[in-house]
Amino acid sequence: MTDAAHNDPTPLEDRLTQLIRLKGPISIADYMSDALGHPNDGYYMTQQVFGASGDFTTAPEISQIFGELIGLWLLEGWRSMGSPADFNLVEFGPGRGVLMEDILRATRLRRGFAKAACLWLLETSGRLRIEQQRRLKGSELKPLWADELADIPPAPNLIVANEFFDCLPIRQFQRVERGWRERLVGVNDKGRLDYVLGQTPPPESYGLPGNNESEPGDIFEISFSAREFIGELAARLVEEGGAALIIDYGHVASGLGDTLQAVRGHNFWPPLSSPGKADLTAHVDFAALAEIAIDAGAAVYGPAAQGRFLERLGLALRAEMLCKDKPEDEQRNIRLGADRIAAPDQMGEIFKVMCVASPDFPAPAGFSDL
Ligand SMILES: C[S@@+](CC[C@H](N)C(=O)[O-])C[C@H]1O[C@@H](n2cnc3c(N)ncnc32)[C@H](O)[C@@H]1O
Repeated sequence: MTDAAHNDPTPLEDRLTQLIRLKGPISIADYMSDALGHPNDGYYMTQQVFGASGDFTTAPEISQIFGELIGLWLLEGWRSMGSPADFNLVEFGPGRGVLMEDILRATRLRRGFAKAACLWLLETSGRLRIEQQRRLKGSELKPLWADELADIPPAPNLIVANEFFDCLPIRQFQRVERGWRERLVGVNDKGRLDYVLGQTPPPESYGLPGNNESEPGDIFEISFSAREFIGELAARLVEEGGAALIIDYGHVASGLGDTLQAVRGHNFWPPLSSPGKADLTAHVDFAALAEIAIDAGAAVYGPAAQGRFLERLGLALRAEMLCKDKPEDEQRNIRLGADRIAAPDQMGEIFKVMCVASPDFPAPAGFSDL
């Protein structure tokens, strides 16, 4: 990537610059929404996102064991609900459909699961929906697509969301001498997008840390989208039964810090540069989501470190089974993949797994040692 290309405004930057000049700075949440989801120029609508030729790689893209173990977790969840004859099997943000393909292969172990399931994929990108359809073409279950949670009809639910919540827009607040101000996206004197601070203090109801718990320069993030989404999800689980497995990178306790990050071509990228051409995410505040789910009457398990969770589900055993009778280089790749998704210095610690369930859902596997 040359500096010139880096410096060329994308069509979306041009549009946002005009809008900001006309109406004033926008929130980081509005910027993220457009950068990721703008119908014509949003990142997920236009870019080759995944794999070596894309921008990043997710756990199911690294090792089939990830999806297979989650498939077994879902099978056990279905059995523990009394094997209902009709239920929603749902994935939020299915990417290229790799995770669901592995889940469906593993769940073939129990006859009746696929017959009882109605497969729903919550996906915003038309381009990725086509990839998902292509990948799941041969499966017993024909997917249906939803734009939002409310599109999925009521039924007991088994849900998985891997790296979905980190895409949901966040707002940022910065401590100044006088208190907090919202960090917004404006236009600088070179005509490029840049951070500016809002003029007015945010409402007290946002619950920002007090002056003695923060100092000037600190950043606090809130994802109102994620909070609203988890509230709706938890209410449905309480009403209809079932459980959701949420896997993402993030922090166990709410805290200070700027976690907004952009990635392009497997490298970090300035978040306000090239909107629509780079992935944009923020750490998930698991503590805030758990609190909302519990307030809605749901049960919450975890968050557990992804590595420990996968080990409890049988990662080592499954890796050894896959290695059996395979040539040495394949065995090496299988073990390397298992290590990448579970080792503490790779994805095993920073990625967390949290389960939100209806109160009558039996304690799910993976959250405590037997
Ligand atoms: C980082 S990818 C995760 C892909 C997949 N779960 C995996 O593990 O490989 C994020 C996915 O969420 C989708 N997505 C992002 N924001 C969304 C939204 N607001 N509603 C529905 N899907 C969304 C993206 O299009 C993409 O499929």
